[in-house]
Amino acid sequence: MLSAYEIIRKKRDGNSLSAEEIDYFVREYTAGNLPDYQASSFLMATYFTGMSDEEILQFTKSMMSTGVVVDLSDIPGPKADKHSTGGVGDKISLILAPLAAACGVKVPMVSGRGLGHTGGTVDKLESIPGFRTRMSIGEYKQILARVGLVMSAQSEDLVPADRKLYALRDVTATVESIPLITSSIMSKKLSEGIDALVLDVKVGNGAFMRKTADARKLAKYMVKVGKLYGKKVTAYLTDMSQPLGREIGNWDEVVESVMVLRGESKSADIIGLTELLTAEMVSLCTGENLTSAKKRVEKTLASGAGYEKFLDMVRAQGGDLKVIRNPGSYPKPRFVLEAKSVRSGYVSEIDTFGVGMANVKLGGGRAKVGDKVDPVAGITIVKKAGEKVSVGDVLAVVRANDDSRAKAAVEQIISSYVLSASKPAGSKLIKERIS
Ligand code: URA
Repeated sequence: MLSAYEIIRKKRDGNSLSAEEIDYFVREYTAGNLPDYQASSFLMATYFTGMSDEEILQFTKSMMSTGVVVDLSDIPGPKADKHSTGGVGDKISLILAPLAAACGVKVPMVSGRGLGHTGGTVDKLESIPGFRTRMSIGEYKQILARVGLVMSAQSEDLVPADRKLYALRDVTATVESIPLITSSIMSKKLSEGIDALVLDVKVGNGAFMRKTADARKLAKYMVKVGKLYGKKVTAYLTDMSQPLGREIGNWDEVVESVMVLRGESKSADIIGLTELLTAEMVSLCTGENLTSAKKRVEKTLASGAGYEKFLDMVRAQGGDLKVIRNPGSYPKPRFVLEAKSVRSGYVSEIDTFGVGMANVKLGGGRAKVGDKVDPVAGITIVKKAGEKVSVGDVLAVVRANDDSRAKAAVEQIISSYVLSASKPAGSKLIKERIS
């Protein structure tokens, strides 16, 4: 057997690793027998040289084998989940999970924390005072059976390899890799005990995959791995060339999601994408055609049943319902600054990566493993792509507890906006369906 050093070297030089080598590296790192610096080198070598199909499958399998695969067969009903490859302002899971549950699909959702410039569902949920995302598998199953959905972080038992590697990738610029994203997402999803999975593969300047061809390749890998494990999987390529909705930031994304669930938001992109992905989950689980599933989802959202499910889930996971019912009672950030336009025209482009990084620097994400995120740090996007702007108009509002960070974010946001003289054509939100 090669040593960790030799395995890193082999990968660095672009060679394929054997199943034993991959398994050894994943197992020993997870057990704490290999240091972070060797795992970081391994990740960077993989980032640059990639993996073969066999290696991706083996890496996923090895990661899964560090934890348990949850058996949900004693809980009646179809189980499905959705996972996004990561975006800015992407709060779809917070709305979709209760909405799908309200439509009769059981949703056992295991999510991640912020990764690179993107936000994470777990950080968002943990901004709700008292909300617990860590729980035993017994409790995870109990909440799922009782409420119809559960939204948790990776427990000690569920793919601990990904928990460690994910945190390391977050701070070592090794996220944007098809093998690493495929194995990270699929190892978690295949361990949850689901029957069906909908993948939201983001593409654009705020996504890990900037080109459609790369996003398509990633989607196809994930669908293939899912099918090899006997799951029903559909992937959508969706636009991430501007933030989704208006809010970026952990608590503010919870509030925006609550507004959608209560029917108090007009955010067409969030509502449209959530309804489509939820309908796909319903359709995969019931066999109902997508059009009729979509109608049912729309009706359920309008009825408020999704909001009631969200409240049930927050209650079951220990969260404070008072702040959900009255978001105005939540603690306020110390600094709220406006980013104003210095030019006029139409918003033709927003550097979404730059805006996501501005949120990280405000405290909404992490600079190093173990950093705490600030729940109230965030950005409200006032002007979206295609909108008209005059000199002095507010492009975005920045919230932070640190004055100098807020000022730096304002500068970064202003330079993230590209204006043009004529109205841009705009990009389609839903680009492709792959099943
Ligand atoms: N989401 C994950 O869980 N892992 C990734 O690598 C990217 C997005």
